[in-house]
Amino acid sequence: MANLWSGRFEKGMDEIVEKFNASITFDNRLYACDIRGSIAHVRMLARQGIVTEDESTQIIGALEKIKEEIESGNVAFSVKQEDIHMAVEGILIDMLGNTGKKLHTARSRNDQCQVDGRMYLKEEILVIRNNLIKLEEALLGKAEKYADKITVGFTHMQHAQPITLGFYLMAYFQMFRRDIQRLEDAYERMNYCPLGSCALAGTTLPIDRHMTAKELGFTAPTENAMDGVSDRDYILEFLSAASISMMHISRMAEEFVWWNSQEFSYIAIDDSFCTGSSIMPQKKNPDMAELLRGKVGRVYGDMVQMFTVMKGTPLAYNKDFQEDKEGMFDAVDTWRDSLAILAGMIEKTEFRLDMIEKQFNRGFLNATDIAEHFVKLGFPFRQAHEVVGKMVKYCEHHNCDFDAIKKDDFKTIDPWLSADKLPDLSIRACVEARTSFGGTAPSEVRRQIFEGQKWIDGIKNKRYC
Ligand code: ARG
Repeated sequence: MANLWSGRFEKGMDEIVEKFNASITFDNRLYACDIRGSIAHVRMLARQGIVTEDESTQIIGALEKIKEEIESGNVAFSVKQEDIHMAVEGILIDMLGNTGKKLHTARSRNDQCQVDGRMYLKEEILVIRNNLIKLEEALLGKAEKYADKITVGFTHMQHAQPITLGFYLMAYFQMFRRDIQRLEDAYERMNYCPLGSCALAGTTLPIDRHMTAKELGFTAPTENAMDGVSDRDYILEFLSAASISMMHISRMAEEFVWWNSQEFSYIAIDDSFCTGSSIMPQKKNPDMAELLRGKVGRVYGDMVQMFTVMKGTPLAYNKDFQEDKEGMFDAVDTWRDSLAILAGMIEKTEFRLDMIEKQFNRGFLNATDIAEHFVKLGFPFRQAHEVVGKMVKYCEHHNCDFDAIKKDDFKTIDPWLSADKLPDLSIRACVEARTSFGGTAPSEVRRQIFEGQKWIDGIKNKRYC
């Protein structure tokens, strides 16, 4: 089979070249977008009088048939077709002869692959956005349940201050909220249609790019044809947003692995999200959490690959750009599925409050609260910090907690200190009192949940084009 572009060639491609050059093995994923784009294009050609209404009807009928055939598995793609654009066009020409040859008027694969890519990514973004919303809802549900349940808050992986579990979960809610915003932002910016940019410079034919842009659900056509065919920012933005979000997933997954270990036992990940060992009968491994922690690596890889491909490429189209697809597909699949797995794992994970409670008397979790209490008594914070530091030193020497400091020893720790200057030392009192905006007190966590829910309800039914 001669290539659709073979007019000026005397020889066919070497077999190895044909294989190396082809993108059909992966870009066949774009078949539905490609056909949708072609239908809009030929409708526009007919309205502009560039093809006849009859030709347009025949081409549209054939394209719809090709879509059905692909979907029922009757089309075997081959590297001989090079890419999905020529595969579809080739079949069309086999079906309609010369009429089929009119479809590729006033367009190029350079703009065609970009229309397809943008349409594909827009659709996938809606699915990913939906998965992010479901993840947010899972977090809200658990945060509600654990709004006033206390756990250990860490800095440097050391006991720091007591916090509520609802507060911890709502921290992740905020991260994924920003991920949704980043995704929506990228979506808005990629919502411009390059169709009709042609090879790089537009066309002499009287096309209507506004019509195709509108019909395909874009905000408007891209402004500059050269930019239209050589821009891959939308993929870079998507991959950047995916990388940040996968990093968030990875952080939470890491904590789930830790919390699920025998050393912590803060959570018990549901059996349905774990696997066993082929040799150690007792094992229940948190594989899903580990995979979620690890999957970020491939998405970073996809992102770095694409930034590297784009670097230094001159205007306009270069074949390097064909490398834009596999990483994008991989990131779409990985991010979409990781979000669904994490949401399911959160829904099915319960916190073991009895095990968490055992840690409350370790690491002087209430030390900052005592210092803040001294501030309320009129003591400058730096001095209060110093006095509590001395109390910690005393307790470490005597291997005891603050409430076991001997009455007579207070003055030896610091002349200002006395037993009656200490506040309620209970962990619950500490948590309840952290009512500053954004703080960990249950009342404040409930406000955060309320605001989060309101935000989710607001965006949930917001439709894009
Ligand atoms: N398969 C190509 C890609 O994905 C389509 C554009 C090819 N254009 C060209 N002039 N060779 O980038």
